[in-house]
Amino acid sequence: MAKFKFDIKCIFSQPVVQISSNLLPHTFIGDRRMAMDVTSKVSQIIDRLGELSAVAQKLSKPITSAQKLRMSENQTVYLMADINGCDGDVVIGLLKIGTKNLYLFDSSGQTRKIDKARCILDFYIHESRQRMGVGKILFDIMLTEEHWTPVKCSVDRPSEKLIQFLKKYYGLEKIIPQANKFVLYEGFFDEDEDDD
Ligand code: ACO
Repeated sequence: MAKFKFDIKCIFSQPVVQISSNLLPHTFIGDRRMAMDVTSKVSQIIDRLGELSAVAQKLSKPITSAQKLRMSENQTVYLMADINGCDGDVVIGLLKIGTKNLYLFDSSGQTRKIDKARCILDFYIHESRQRMGVGKILFDIMLTEEHWTPVKCSVDRPSEKLIQFLKKYYGLEKIIPQANKFVLYEGFFDEDEDDD
């Protein structure tokens, strides 16, 4: 798990917080001075978790960093912590999602331009906590907060672990082949009343 020299309780008033381009938790209340302090701490957490995720995925550089999030328009990072646990206060997970305008193939091979396609961009649970159901909790919180359904999500270059995860919990298995790095599943293009 990721430990930090500073007290992370000022960020995690609850186990999972959402961070957008202002680099403040969605729960943040405070003045400008407090905001600067929390932003600096959030940046360190995101950078560390982003690096750990890149190492876990054997990527040459992180997909997620505070700087990238600051420059983004439609991205949210969900951070998960274990507060007062057996390891003290530690950060244990990161999930970055966002929307992108994508050209995608549907099941019949036709190209479709999808505006604001929902994307799973980066997902990491610390090695010491993997395969304990933590990822499922974090992913489900994101789905609830965003009002997303798994089959409507495109997944940016999923790892084998994530492919197994999506199959196990959400029955996602049948892939619609794409020319780009995104993975979509059968049902992605189906109309339903949940669509925004
Ligand atoms: N091998 C195969 N499947 C795995 C593995 C593994 N080592 N680890 C997790 N899974 C899948 C399996 O379906 C597993 O069920 P099982 O144990 O019955 O086989 C299920 O996930 C476990 O579910 P959780 O415990 O809720 O998942 P976890 O907390 O481990 O989080 C995650 C899943 C995020 C994929 C985590 O394993 C991880 O961080 N892996 C390393 C980084 C990574 O691959 N991230 C995804 C990159 S792709 C992207 O982000 C778009």
